[in-house]
Amino acid sequence: MFLEACRRRPVPYTPVWIMRQAGRYLPEYRELRAKVDFVALTRSAELAAEATLQPLRRYPLDAAILFSDIMTPLQGMGVGLEFDPGPVVREPIRTAAQVDALPRLAPQRDVPFVLDAIRLVRAGAPRGVPLIGFAGAPFTLLCYLVCGRPSKEFSAARALLYAQPETAERLLDRLADAMTAYLAAQAAAGAQALMLFESWAGLLGIREYRRFALRGVRRVVAGLRPLGVPLIYYVNQGSALMEAVSELDVDVVGVDWRSPLGAARRVLGPGKAVQGNLDPAALFAERGELKRHIEVVLDEAGPLPGHIFNLGHGIWPDTDPDAVARMIDYVHERTARRPLA
Ligand code: CP3
Repeated sequence: MFLEACRRRPVPYTPVWIMRQAGRYLPEYRELRAKVDFVALTRSAELAAEATLQPLRRYPLDAAILFSDIMTPLQGMGVGLEFDPGPVVREPIRTAAQVDALPRLAPQRDVPFVLDAIRLVRAGAPRGVPLIGFAGAPFTLLCYLVCGRPSKEFSAARALLYAQPETAERLLDRLADAMTAYLAAQAAAGAQALMLFESWAGLLGIREYRRFALRGVRRVVAGLRPLGVPLIYYVNQGSALMEAVSELDVDVVGVDWRSPLGAARRVLGPGKAVQGNLDPAALFAERGELKRHIEVVLDEAGPLPGHIFNLGHGIWPDTDPDAVARMIDYVHERTARRPLA
């Protein structure tokens, strides 16, 4: 269902998955994390596969997403970093010399555990539930590499775009090439769709978005397109950027909760599916209200094929797992269509 919806084909019901579906809101994930730290979890193929499968045992989800992190491949390339709980880079990148010294990524050598985890998930996932592989979009990775830790403004990263634009471009190209190799290796290992997470491009004005962030994404998309695997681009706080996003040759655009899906679809045009976009906070609404908020999202998505239901950003750690079950069931129930004659 999920892969059909990515390709904008009619489906018997709207498929659902949840950003951060393997995570701290699940008691079984917290149990796993009590025994192993986050990095060890991501670096063990068996444990990463287990975390990926946990939400699929609990819920009738229509896709799995690999349990890993956008920083995992950079760690594989030798970038020193810890998680506290977000990524903290030991030596932030600020100079052209540091960019040039960044090693290239060889996925089989540097992150074999990710590829092994993908093989284990494919062997263990329920029938018909495809696996999404993912990477950080180049500009979002640049934000963490340059600033060194999560931030509201990512000011050092944004300053670099103006102070040393060529260095920024060189870093984006490096990251784009690394993520292209990384995602191609994930597809070869069995990932059936590939998603790029662009968490911070919403900080940019349209000119800088085009020159820097879009440059990086275009380069990755150009490298992956020949694989024929559906490509998903999620851009957080992307309302003002949608026209530029519409030019990208991706199958699906992930939309945050701030822009109604109808508005996003009008700008993106008929050639793209949309994914989203219930506010993660809506899972705290009383039962009847939650249904009403889900209906608003479904109505905004409209009757045309090419909608994948999701939250507008990652699920919050204090979310009630039963509210998640009610959400998934209600989307399936509300969108059930008679089989095509
Ligand atoms: O969606 C999934 O279930 C797959 C796993 C996944 C994780 N991180 C696991 C994780 C995915 C797809 C990501 C992507 C990711 N990581 C993004 C892009 C999506 C987004 O949220 O905008 C970003 C920006 C990161 C960087 C990152 N990693 C942050 C900011 C944090 C800390 C805050 C948080 O949300 O937990 C992490 C750590 C992290 N990545 C955790 C998990 C389950 C929590 C670690 C723990 O268990 O202590």
